[in-house]
Amino acid sequence: MVTPEIQVRPDLASLTQEAADRIAAAAQAAIKAQDVFSIALSGGSTPKPVYERLAQEPYRSKIDWSKVQIFFGDERCVPPDSDQSNYRMAREALLAKVPIPAANVHRIRGEIDPNAAATEYGQLLKERFGDGGLDLILLGMGPDGHTASLFPGTTALHEARHRCVANYVEKLKTWRVTMTAPFINRAAAVMFLVSGADKAQRVAEVISGPRDPDRLPSQLISPTSGRLIWLLDAAAAGKS
Ligand code: 6PG
Repeated sequence: MVTPEIQVRPDLASLTQEAADRIAAAAQAAIKAQDVFSIALSGGSTPKPVYERLAQEPYRSKIDWSKVQIFFGDERCVPPDSDQSNYRMAREALLAKVPIPAANVHRIRGEIDPNAAATEYGQLLKERFGDGGLDLILLGMGPDGHTASLFPGTTALHEARHRCVANYVEKLKTWRVTMTAPFINRAAAVMFLVSGADKAQRVAEVISGPRDPDRLPSQLISPTSGRLIWLLDAAAAGKS
């Protein structure tokens, strides 16, 4: 198990700043080393101000967007213009505001059958990454311990082969499409962004409690040869 790097910032604004700094630095380093930077975005409310920040100066000009490849860690089963769509959130907050070629943005098609969308996205990930993984995956964590669309007690938690699967979430009575933990764990770096006191108990359990990934799916995230970074605000770190 990789040792997590935990950084606590006083509030959401400073967490946002830190995340934007780290993402820009990772993009610059990857582009310098290998002429491309691949990143998976997450949905949820915490990353939105980070995406908005990246669309503003100085970040906007610091990153060569023509060399950035955008992927998504998970998607809701809705059309891309739905207010529930992770793609729509990322497009409005970031992608429509920076000079990124449309061909560099790889969304999960939430509007088609979830299994078909997962198969299609899994094939794309296989073509792009083979047995490797992304440069950086951004993740959030829900108060129930879920990350991406890996929810407690769901079948996707036991997926060992596929890079992306459809996952039925009984408590939400809905399908999601999600990258699997084994694929996420091939990334060079995984960065959790977590804010708010409602997450504090779970953050403490996930990071230092007994291993129980069926209840705490975020415990499945442990890059095999990459970095695991937790960026927390003081409220989310309050019980650790
Ligand atoms: C989604 C997300 C999900 C999210 C967490 C945390 O599609 O909902 O990818 O895993 O990251 O639920 O969300 P908040 O940042 O809003 O707490």
